[in-house]
Amino acid sequence: MSTQFLSDSFGRVMRDLRVSVTDRCNFRCVYCLPETDQAADFYRSKFDPLKNPAPIKLELPPLQPRSQLLTFEEIERVVRLAVELGVEKVRLTGGEPLLRRNIEVLVAKLAPLQGLKDLAMTSNGFLFQHKAQALRAAGLTRMSFSLDSLDPANFKKMTGRDGLEEVIHSIRLAKQLGMNPVKLNAVVIRGLNDHELVDLVRFAMNEGVQMRFIEFMPLDSNRGWLRDLVVSGREILERLSAHFDLEPSVVTQPSETARRWKVKGTESEIGIIAPVTEPFCGHCNRLRLTVDGKIRTCLFSLGEHDLKGLMRNGADDGTVQTRLRSIVWQKEDRHHIGEIEFKQPERSMSCIGG
Ligand code: GTP
Ligand code: 5AD
Ligand code: SF4
Repeated sequence: MSTQFLSDSFGRVMRDLRVSVTDRCNFRCVYCLPETDQAADFYRSKFDPLKNPAPIKLELPPLQPRSQLLTFEEIERVVRLAVELGVEKVRLTGGEPLLRRNIEVLVAKLAPLQGLKDLAMTSNGFLFQHKAQALRAAGLTRMSFSLDSLDPANFKKMTGRDGLEEVIHSIRLAKQLGMNPVKLNAVVIRGLNDHELVDLVRFAMNEGVQMRFIEFMPLDSNRGWLRDLVVSGREILERLSAHFDLEPSVVTQPSETARRWKVKGTESEIGIIAPVTEPFCGHCNRLRLTVDGKIRTCLFSLGEHDLKGLMRNGADDGTVQTRLRSIVWQKEDRHHIGEIEFKQPERSMSCIGG
């Protein structure tokens, strides 16, 4: 086993690998993969025709052909090699990871890997009830679900689907199965769901799960992101503080994306993830593996590094690890959201995974 780590040129060491297991999704979230007329209307209503004369047309990004997908054996190999190089956390993402057939088989392959301390999944929760027992039995111990609204009509507006009931059922089921912690992620968009912040927190507190609010990032497939749609972490905190007595939680991991706040006198915690207004790149320890076997060193990387070709050409473990280390060395220092030179990556969040 190698004693070398995955260090970058800024002194950061990678501990967290996010694996996208499919680029398909059964939701059409307005901030990720918008497709519905309601989503188009929303973006159109925010557009300034003087600055952006082009009408917004919603087109879905192309999907990878199945032959290009990493097999479970290939994913397991990349994870094992990364874990040997110091990665401790793995998160399965998508698209929607529960759409990948037999995903529990992948979980069963990854969960026992020596040195892997944490295996989690991010899902929209719609299909979770069909897979929950199998995933738990395979060794999955924690889940994060997207939950952007508690109002069925607004839920549909935000996700493009009627699915609130199923998602709430999934959250309860994950709790019942002893998954811990269960986290709920809401991407906050001004004028869409920012009036639901307090309700979402109350819901999460009642369910015994952690509510987290995320600033909207320019990773949507229609490139309709506007700075004005972002509700800053600071504003989220101010608005919550009017209803809850909040105190900062102790930071245990500097690489954490969320700043956590405790609701005084309770066991409940709220997380605020503010990559746009308070970037946390300086402590970033995350790497991403795409469904077609490319490594992305940043959510906002403009280039990717192929591992699939190398593996399919018969490279041995040492060669793949050497390549991984040289890729990580090239990790970019930070994102450039809000700067003139910012360029949105070609792949949307639905293809990169959260
Ligand atoms: P745990 O704390 O281990 O549960 O994971 P996490 O905090 O990384 O949370 P999760 O994977 O659920 O990510 C939550 C959201 O944070 C994602 O959906 C993204 O929107 C955002 N996020 C996660 N990682 C990054 C990152 O490296 N950079 C940026 N800019 N945003 C990120
Ligand atoms: N900005 C911020 N977070 C996003 N996510 C998806 N798209 C965006 C975006 N544009 C997050 C959501 C979802 C997870 C998979 O990725 O929280 O739950
Ligand atoms: Fe890491 Fe890039 Fe996210 Fe910054 S934007 S925290 S460098 S992945």
